Formats: sequence, structure tokens, C-alpha cells
Amino acid sequence: MSKGKLQKFAEMETFDNVFQYPYSVIENIPFEMKGHWHEQYFHNNNPIVLELGCGKGEYTVGLAKLFPDVNFIGVDIKGARMHTGAKQALAEKLDNVAFLRTNIEVIDRFFSQNEVQEIWLTFSDPQMKNPRKRLSSTFFMERYRRFLADNGTIHIKTDSNFLFTYTTHMVNRNNLPILFRTEDLYHTDGFDEQTRTILSIQTYYEAQWIERGLNIRYMKFSLPHNGELTEPDIEIPLDDYRSYKRNKRSGLQKHE
Ligand SMILES: C[S@@+](CC[C@H](N)C(=O)[O-])C[C@H]1O[C@@H](n2cnc3c(N)ncnc32)[C@H](O)[C@@H]1O
Repeated sequence: MSKGKLQKFAEMETFDNVFQYPYSVIENIPFEMKGHWHEQYFHNNNPIVLELGCGKGEYTVGLAKLFPDVNFIGVDIKGARMHTGAKQALAEKLDNVAFLRTNIEVIDRFFSQNEVQEIWLTFSDPQMKNPRKRLSSTFFMERYRRFLADNGTIHIKTDSNFLFTYTTHMVNRNNLPILFRTEDLYHTDGFDEQTRTILSIQTYYEAQWIERGLNIRYMKFSLPHNGELTEPDIEIPLDDYRSYKRNKRSGLQKHE
């Protein structure tokens, strides 16, 4: 590990807005704040919003500044990236921000039923080869249902046609209500001022994809608690600007 990374990790240990629970830790130590984020960390009863795969946490910090009466938690396994957002939140005294370093596959160990109101998926890896690892798969939707309020909102912002098409099929197949959908965010009208401000927050990856001339896609949908979820099994054109040796089918069962 580079000296810079080691320094960031050491510094993160001292940040009181960061909770670090990689697999090795969560297996042995229960997360006692599950179900108690409001009283034990935020000290208020405001809604909780997660950014899953937050990287440097641009959405977590950007939204927290726009909405001081909402609590935001950025989740990622990569500590060196998270360090940027966590440090900024501390410097700007944003007490409605926290970061959780863990694997999202075990995200339901950190939040209890109805503890979270919304989820953002920002430039998630499309995982063209591994549907099970796709953050918008039914596998993850089942996980999210365990702590997201009934009909809670999920936002997805991505450059990836593959991931966006897949998510659209997942949503349609399961009759999840679509609240908004655009394949070209920056050439779409009809947003109110506040929504436009929210959507104009740019992440590290977003800036790179925009520079390469790619469309940014955005969708928000609700996730009801009831109803069986089934995985779409369809052919989706692969994103040709990513490196892969991948199977085109999206069904989970083939890769389990
Ligand atoms: C392409 S990056 C996007 C980062 C940031 N949202 C952005 O737009 O700049 C995807 C991020 O998701 C994280 N990630 C992907 N799968 C994950 C998982 N299962 N658990 C935790 N983090 C994950 C990666 O570590 C990475 O930081």
C-alpha cells in the first residue's frame, strides 16, 4: 500500500464521522448502532439517505449541504476514496453526514426495518459479468427492502447503457413505479430548480464520463415491500468502452 494511502487510513481512524466494518470486522463484532442511527449518531429524527458505492462521497456531501434537515450516509469499501468526503464533511462541520466502510453485500446488517428513506446509486460498476454484484439487481433490492421504508425511493445515475437498460428491465418486470427516467440528463427539460441543482452534483466518475462525451442517464423509482421480485433474463448490448470478457445475459441464476 502506498504511503499516501496508509496515511489516509491512519487519519480515518481518528474521524468520528467514519465507521469501518469490512467483512473481517462485521463477522466478529455486531454493529450496535443498527436501528439507532438517529439517537446515537445524528441526534435528530430526520430522514436518512444512503449513497451506495459513494467513492469520494460527492453526492453524500453535496446533498448534505443542500438539505441540512436530512441525514446522509456514504457507503463504500474503498477507504482511500471515502477519506476525501469524510475529511470535507468534518472541515465543513456537516453533522448530517456519516460514512460507512463496508461491503454493500452485507448492508442490511447496519440498518433496521424502515430506518432509511432513500438510496442513491451513483455511477455504480455495471458488473456486466456478475449480475449478482450489480447494485440494482433483485438480489440487492431484497437486501434494501430490509431497511428501506415501504415505497422508498431509489435513484440511479450512470453513464452505462448496460446498467441503465438492465435496471429499466428489472424495474419494469417487477412493476416498480418509475418516478422519473431520462437517457440524457443534461439535455432533458422539465426539472424544477431544486431537482436540477441536485442532479447537477457531479461525482469523480461522472466528470470523467462527461469528458469522454458520454450521456448521463438518470432514473428514480420506488421499491414497495410487497411482491416477489424476479430477475430479468434478457440480452443487453455490452458497453463497448469498458474492458470485459463477458456473458451478455443478465439472469442471476446462470452466475450463482
Ligand atoms: C465506479 S465507482 C463510483 C464512485 C462514485 N460514486 C463516483 O461516481 O465517483 C464505484 C464504487 O462503488 C464501490 N463498490 C462497488 N461495489 C461495492 C460493494 N459491493 N461494496 C462496497 N463498495 C462497492 C467501489 O469501491 C467504487 O468506489
